[in-house]
Amino acid sequence: MVATSQTTGEGWSSRSAFILAAVGAAVGLGNIWRFPTLAGESGGGAFVIFYIGCVFLLGLPLVLSEIFVGRVGQTDAVGSIRKVAVQSGASPSWSIFGGIGAIAAFLIVSFYSVVAGWVLYYAGVMGWDFLQAIMSGDPFRGALAGESQEQIQQRLGDMFASPGLLLAMHFAFMGLTFYIVARGVSSGIEKAATYLMPAFFVLLLGLVIYGAIEGDIGDAVAFLFTPDWSKLTPQVMNSALGQALFSLSLGVAGLITYGSYIKENSGLGATSAMIAFADTGVAILAGLMIFPIVFAVGLDPAAGPTLVFQTLPFAFQTMPGGALFGFLFFILILVAAVTSSISLLEVPTAWGIGERGWSRPKSSAIFGGGAFLIGIACLLGYNVWADVRPLGFWSLFENTDILDTVDGFTGKVMLPLGALFTSLFVGWKADASLLRTTTGLSPAMFGLWRFLIAWLCPLAVTIILVTGLFPSILGA
Ligand code: TRP
Repeated sequence: MVATSQTTGEGWSSRSAFILAAVGAAVGLGNIWRFPTLAGESGGGAFVIFYIGCVFLLGLPLVLSEIFVGRVGQTDAVGSIRKVAVQSGASPSWSIFGGIGAIAAFLIVSFYSVVAGWVLYYAGVMGWDFLQAIMSGDPFRGALAGESQEQIQQRLGDMFASPGLLLAMHFAFMGLTFYIVARGVSSGIEKAATYLMPAFFVLLLGLVIYGAIEGDIGDAVAFLFTPDWSKLTPQVMNSALGQALFSLSLGVAGLITYGSYIKENSGLGATSAMIAFADTGVAILAGLMIFPIVFAVGLDPAAGPTLVFQTLPFAFQTMPGGALFGFLFFILILVAAVTSSISLLEVPTAWGIGERGWSRPKSSAIFGGGAFLIGIACLLGYNVWADVRPLGFWSLFENTDILDTVDGFTGKVMLPLGALFTSLFVGWKADASLLRTTTGLSPAMFGLWRFLIAWLCPLAVTIILVTGLFPSILGA
């Protein structure tokens, strides 16, 4: 028999609760850490404009597709795809890509928690520093008073060299993620999103205004929006496409899972557009927050992954109020990371509930615990296992440490594959009248959506997949 999965029986209490949770899932380390890093490394404007094109032509149709599958299916990703397939007269084997998605989400949350752990440590360091600033009677002094630039930069290396510290932070973050997911959809995930997302937006606006006043906003705007098209190389396009998928939480059935908790059909197209707009808006605001500060002190915007951990703390040192705003900055990233990590853990958790019949606490404990263990391997890759190359036999991952291997394999292989299957399934297999009634799009929008999802998405995603796996095609 096919349709054996149980509905999880849970749901969002309102449409706005779903939107907040989905925006919370989308807005994360990808927006505040990865987007500015990539924009900085790739030279700014051309990358940003191409990225925005990817979000709306490729990402948005996929967001609506995943939500559609979940809305119809009303259960975990595997069961939901199976149900849509059966209702559309397609093979139930399509549900396999839901299982691959659940594995990908499980792997992503394992290293995501490790990186969020770094943020947690920095929030602690900056919080302690701010406390000292208050006690010294000068709460608005710059951050990390008295430390040299070398000392500030050295902190990152010291952290990486300490497995115990990394482990403690990873444990705390994964524990929090598990705690929220174990409490369920409405009293865990939804509640976290309704408190944390408004706090996030207040913090973000505060920091953008701070950067505009104290930093160099003119240079930042010019950097982010003036395109130098010669910098738009195939590699840059590839990373922009991949980043669009990651930032919108696509390709691992995350939005299928969240979509399955929607109880009524109301404007799924508008809801999807809101998610895409909010996510992109936050990424750009994050750029408008970070680069004025970087430029104000004449630092390098192309610093790469260490931008947030080495460049910014030093910038906060030289700025008035840096101790306070530096602390708030890391709290901001932490909040964004929590609402994303719960969405990742929820995908395999829902699978355990829907397909295995496990209780929610049991399922979230199994997958949260498993991801915690894989995360330990990732963090040991920064010190005791620094020489381990898990996929070293594969030229693409020859020189890649454990965390970057899990990140690279999920991001370059599993995520685009998931997005490809989603677009093929929804674009070619799903029943057209089911699509029409569920999404409620106007005929013109419906036609546009189907064109993008059936033709543009598979094509573009195949290009990401192939050029990602065989970078030599791009002449790299
Ligand atoms: N989108 C989140 C971010 O930008 C991360 C994330 C959450 C994610 N859920 C996902 C990425 C699902 C890929 C798939 O940080």
